[in-house]
Amino acid sequence: MAPELYRVVKNGRETQDCFTLELAPADGSPRMKFAPGQFNMLYMFGVGEIPISVSGDPQGKLLVHTIREIGTVTKRLAGVKTGDVVGVRGPFGSVWPMDAAVGNDVIIMAGGIAGAPVRPILYEIFNNREKYGKVVFLYGARTPADLLFAKDFKKWGADNDVFVDYTVDKADADYKGTVGLVTALVKKAKLKKLFDCYNTVAMVCGPGLMMKFSVMELVKRGIPESRCWISEERNMKCGIGMCGHCQCGPLFVCKDGPVFRSDKVKHIFHTREI
Ligand SMILES: Cc1cc2nc3c(=O)[nH]c(=O)nc-3n(C[C@H](O)[C@H](O)[C@H](O)COP(=O)(O)OP(=O)(O)OC[C@H]3O[C@@H](n4cnc5c(N)ncnc54)[C@H](O)[C@@H]3O)c2cc1C
Ligand code: FES
Repeated sequence: MAPELYRVVKNGRETQDCFTLELAPADGSPRMKFAPGQFNMLYMFGVGEIPISVSGDPQGKLLVHTIREIGTVTKRLAGVKTGDVVGVRGPFGSVWPMDAAVGNDVIIMAGGIAGAPVRPILYEIFNNREKYGKVVFLYGARTPADLLFAKDFKKWGADNDVFVDYTVDKADADYKGTVGLVTALVKKAKLKKLFDCYNTVAMVCGPGLMMKFSVMELVKRGIPESRCWISEERNMKCGIGMCGHCQCGPLFVCKDGPVFRSDKVKHIFHTREI
């Protein structure tokens, strides 16, 4: 439960309300190991502690988190400067099914800030590109200015043979990209034969309704729901299955999740009160 001290190496702005913290252990030791999908409890001393997914490269030197400014702790974290110290507990939680994805086509879908928790999946694939078949990354944000990591999309596609497609909910008339729901991008990818539906693993992250309708669209396009994974978010305090804050029926999102196989949990997360 005791946080380790990490020093801020860089605090970089991504969008108007998102920033990325690059951290290194304050005592100079190697950073913690993590797998794509896992999260840390980040502690802003004197303010509070919150769960934030790791958004960096599993093979990178630094510990990287991308955060949306939303309330008390995130707004204070947004103000940290190089050299400041934050607390880190973790890594916690279940992981994206990278093993199940080996030898298969992969579809990654994300909405808004969820571009952050899925980025380690992409890095893992880039680091081991030969292990995977076709790779499709579909991403949606509110407006063009909210597209997270947009400056990297071209490079990700060109350097790693990944099909990247994105859309926004609304945009000015001079915006040349796609406007509409991220689910519509699945149909486009299917028509372009960018995945083989029986040999595809899908990993979906975003707001609850976005995940529900994305999985429905993937199933409609032929991917069995047993090959779709989602990542759930709940308020958390301990992060280790002790306090009950994240409990949902029989599941603790911090310990059993946040990554779950969709068909195994939809009866729980699609029910408002249980
Ligand atoms: C496993 C896990 C991984 C996460 N990964 C990330 C991540 O990578 N990047 C990231 O930016 N966030 C992530 N979050 C969400 C993040 O933990 C919350 O945004 C954060 O706890 C808000 O803390 P705060 O003190 O700034 O806001 P608070 O002061 O607690 O909340 C301010 C207001 O925002 C509302 N609120 C709080 N959280 C959310 C939310 N998630 N969505 C909408 N409204 C909310 C509250 O109800 C309140 O009204 C993750 C959450 C979980 C459970
Ligand atoms: S956060 Fe305490 S049980 Fe999950």
